[in-house]
Amino acid sequence: MEKVRIGMVGSRFAADLHLRAFEKLRATKLDILAVCSKNRENAEAFSKRFHIPHVYTDYRQMLERKEIQVVDLCVSTDLHHTIAIDAAEAGKHIICEKPLTGYFGDGKISRQTMMEEALKNASSVLKAVQKNKVKFCYAENFVYAPPVTKLKSLIKASQGTVLDIRAEESHSGSHAAYSREWKTSGGGSLMRLGSHPVGAVLHLKHYEGLMKFGRPIRARSVIGDIGHLTKMEGFRKEPKKWMVDSWVDVEDWSAALITFEDGSKGTVLATDVSLGGVKNLVSVHMSNAVAQININPNNSLVVYSPEKNIFGSEYITEKVETTAGWQFPSPDEDWMRGYPQEMEDFVDAILEDRDPISGPDLAFDTVEVIYGAYLSAETGKRIEFERKR
Ligand SMILES: NC(=O)c1ccc[n+]([C@@H]2O[C@H](COP(=O)([O-])OP(=O)(O)OC[C@H]3O[C@@H](n4cnc5c(N)ncnc54)[C@H](O)[C@@H]3O)[C@@H](O)[C@H]2O)c1
Repeated sequence: MEKVRIGMVGSRFAADLHLRAFEKLRATKLDILAVCSKNRENAEAFSKRFHIPHVYTDYRQMLERKEIQVVDLCVSTDLHHTIAIDAAEAGKHIICEKPLTGYFGDGKISRQTMMEEALKNASSVLKAVQKNKVKFCYAENFVYAPPVTKLKSLIKASQGTVLDIRAEESHSGSHAAYSREWKTSGGGSLMRLGSHPVGAVLHLKHYEGLMKFGRPIRARSVIGDIGHLTKMEGFRKEPKKWMVDSWVDVEDWSAALITFEDGSKGTVLATDVSLGGVKNLVSVHMSNAVAQININPNNSLVVYSPEKNIFGSEYITEKVETTAGWQFPSPDEDWMRGYPQEMEDFVDAILEDRDPISGPDLAFDTVEVIYGAYLSAETGKRIEFERKR
């Protein structure tokens, strides 16, 4: 069988995740031909570790390689739209990490301008994708997490109405330097963490609509709020900090209340002020059923140890402050979060010339909800979406 030939852009955290997710498919369905990173040393170390034959420091040169069919974007979000457009113009399919794009500049300008810029960036990627007839695979792993996939089958079987979805991603703060400022991160907790639960909520309603009416049920409006809780006086006075508090101009707490075209509701929480490890949660309240998804933490394995070194260097789970006490080690965190499944769908979509399950519509609508929530948080008003697409 013919293999899909991939060039990676980026060689750090997300690239590492993708390579682990690609690993089993390399024997049968794909070849990783090249990696590009602006840091040559890092790219070379990455190519050695994952046996990738070609290394670039300029992605445009990598795009010139005719045999590369797919460009996998694992670069910071501010670079997504430019590289995605260049890749589409070079006739390459695109795998793009979440979120698709945003506004990257002065964090003090009006949220209206931010929203317009973010949607302009998102639309220009989608236009380039359409014009060049390439596929856009949106790497929103929540869509592929096994409990979400199973829940979709249950929703289909029940034929109930999805009334109310609540979803969250929270932890105690990113350690990436780019996350501190709007100009490099495009927002705070809602942008970085919230894109996952926003993506999950939108996807489930899109899915319900496609199943029942042949078209997605999209968000009609959003109300948002944000907070800077690590700037509170009481918090600042405490001598020991258990969470990241070096945010410059981005929020560390956020909420988005979404109303869908059919009147149903989605509530998303995304915060950088939550101790006890990462929370990736979704609950769905239907007319005839209720479901609770615990991607993290989940109790498939629960352990206790009286002090933190009992399990040595064994991985427990992401972002716990201590490994002592009761813990929820994830037996296969990558699988539970849907990373290998999303990469397999993308590769199959390209091989079979079909749309991926997570594609451009979800990518665009996620940007719209996030920036709509930011605008709402600034104005105190509900933001209604204009439907041009
Ligand atoms: N799905 C998930 O769970 C998940 C987790 C982490 C990050 N992400 C997303 O992945 C993306 C990357 O995040 P990260 O944490 O890996 O960032 P990172 O800062 O760790 O890595 C960015 C990489 O991009 C490279 N790079 C920067 N500018 C470049 C350029 N001009 N040309 C080529 N390479 C360049 C850097 O050298 C580096 O290798 C972000 O969009 C983030 O939102 C997703």
